[in-house]
Amino acid sequence: MSTLIVYFSFDGNTKFIAEKIAETLNADIIELKTSKKYPTEGFLKYFCGGKSVIFGEKPKLTNTSIDLNRYETIVIGTPVWAGSYTPPIKSFIRQYKIQGKQIALFASHGGNGAEKCFAKLKEALPGNKFIGETAYVEPKKNPEDSSSKAVRWASDILAV
Ligand SMILES: Cc1cc2nc3c(=O)[nH]c(=O)nc-3n(C[C@H](O)[C@H](O)[C@H](O)COP(=O)(O)O)c2cc1C
Repeated sequence: MSTLIVYFSFDGNTKFIAEKIAETLNADIIELKTSKKYPTEGFLKYFCGGKSVIFGEKPKLTNTSIDLNRYETIVIGTPVWAGSYTPPIKSFIRQYKIQGKQIALFASHGGNGAEKCFAKLKEALPGNKFIGETAYVEPKKNPEDSSSKAVRWASDILAV
């Protein structure tokens, strides 16, 4: 079963988990990148990121084209922003017609909004089969626990 991990990460938490999952599944991994730059500090970081979610922005991805035909399973990872998934993930969903895949979702967050984020992702990805979802609270602050949780979760997905 060929699996692709696709993720966006602003501060490295989602990246940390994505890399663990990819390593466990021996899967391909792609970090989404955009030409749009969000402020990295202070009030503006939250304001601009949050606004981008609320306005439904789809920033242009700078990744080279991804051939999804090669994969049966796609694992999508995102930080929770304003109770939702991040704009680059929205761009990815809009750019690629994702149909008939097995999809697993994971998110990093600060304490709330992961369920809403997953519900919105599922709504945005009709025509696919969801095989798992899991959320991590600031995983880089607790690397050992988060990393063993990621390894267990990834092994469970593979067992589906
Ligand atoms: C613009 C913005 C909005 C955020 N909104 C939420 C939120 O609604 N709920 C939450 O629990 N954390 C929120 N966070 C915190 C991040 O989800 C959290 O720090 C996450 O671990 C970051 O992942 P990353 O390091 O991969 O970027 C927000 C962070 C930013 C920058």
